Amino acid sequence: MSREADTLVLFGATGDLAYKDIFPALQALVKKGSLTVPVIGTGRGGRTLEYLKQRVKDSIAEHGHPEDTDATENLLGLLDYVDGDYADPDTFERLCRALGKAKAPLYYLAIPPDMFGTVVRSLDAAGCAGEHAQVVVEKPFGRDLESARALGETLHEVFDEHEIYRIDHYLGKESVQNLLYFRFANIFLEPIWNADYVRSVQITMAEDFGVETRGAFYDSVGAIRDVVQNHLLQVVAHVAMERPGHMTGDAVRDAKAKLLSQVQPLRPEQIVRGQYSGYREERGVNSRSNVETYAALRLDIDSARWRGVPFLIRTGKYLATTLTEVVVELKRGPGVPEYRLTCAPNYFRFRLGPRRVAIALGALSKKPGTEMVGENVELLVRDEARNHMSAYERLIGDAMRGDHTLFAREDTVAHSWSIVEPVLDLPDPVLPYERGSWGPKKAQDLADSVGGWLFPGCE
Ligand code: BG6
Repeated sequence: MSREADTLVLFGATGDLAYKDIFPALQALVKKGSLTVPVIGTGRGGRTLEYLKQRVKDSIAEHGHPEDTDATENLLGLLDYVDGDYADPDTFERLCRALGKAKAPLYYLAIPPDMFGTVVRSLDAAGCAGEHAQVVVEKPFGRDLESARALGETLHEVFDEHEIYRIDHYLGKESVQNLLYFRFANIFLEPIWNADYVRSVQITMAEDFGVETRGAFYDSVGAIRDVVQNHLLQVVAHVAMERPGHMTGDAVRDAKAKLLSQVQPLRPEQIVRGQYSGYREERGVNSRSNVETYAALRLDIDSARWRGVPFLIRTGKYLATTLTEVVVELKRGPGVPEYRLTCAPNYFRFRLGPRRVAIALGALSKKPGTEMVGENVELLVRDEARNHMSAYERLIGDAMRGDHTLFAREDTVAHSWSIVEPVLDLPDPVLPYERGSWGPKKAQDLADSVGGWLFPGCE
């Protein structure tokens, strides 16, 4: 654990991320009494504290809980604002003055990564990156292994690794944390959670919408950089890692790093890339773009537990529905004379979101009648749409308290880049797919060896 923060400084306070996710999370933290320290917003464009307050109110009206007026008022009371260009040392002099006697500021860089260097060096030069200062950064953590390393070096010029919090908001999701908990808290899983019993692991992250207003950004990254390298490989780590010594702190991050180091770098034949129809006409997108909005891939893990088990991942924009789901398919057992099944006989299904979360166990039951044949049934262990703490509320609260458990560590980020690096920016043309479909047909081939993708086909 690092030191608790005594001030939160939000760079990019007038930007989209602050508006959509950060202010509603701060309101929730204030409501629970978990945020009582000053919050200093910084931004460019000659704005004022009044402007920031109005923006916070608008953000809460749209994305937070406007009915919690006391929490909103209390949050507004904590706010201060420093306006100025991040390239101007004067901005940082004024920020240092605004910090007053704060000893442990937490700097949240909700700004483009190419500004990180300027900001952290300026904080240092102005003398406000003292012994207990810490920093929060948002993905993307680079665009390949080399740039991720360079980004790490830039941050390390001023901050030690234990003073850096890298947000991957998937790690803040209750359902993603529960993957770990469910695995290790239930003794019946461990004996079968390996290549002797598991036939495939399939992870789907589907979205039924496109790049919306983020065309220019998305066209510079694509699906692999946007969600596979970070969110989905973190999910793989949760499904596959060995039991950590403890459920908190570096024990969990060590176990994840080890697992990701065992995932083999992808080969081009292990991936299918697609692009939805009309993508090239989206605002901000290159009219000849070869960037993928869909990726399906097959990962191999070189460990005693997982050798030979395909980990299949698919994700895309403008697919048939919006859901994130993990299905762990078990091998077929002996002694069941005849399958006339619509789905694999046995599997675990973890629905991670967006609204409903579920854990289900796929099993066989005898079909009523004279024949001894089975049918698929699903035992629903848990199915709910409760309003959990948002991922941002969880992560900002943890960073304020100095708990690193749910943040991406530099080594895991590097391992993840090593896995996807060989298939970044492949020259072969992306395969077109219709909006509202399940992506290019060729993605089926990747799952052929295990009889195809399990869901939604057998739902
Ligand atoms: C973001 C990606 O990191 O995650 C988006 O940039 C994606 O493209 C989003 O839509 C999905 O997050 P969630 O929490 O809605 O599944």
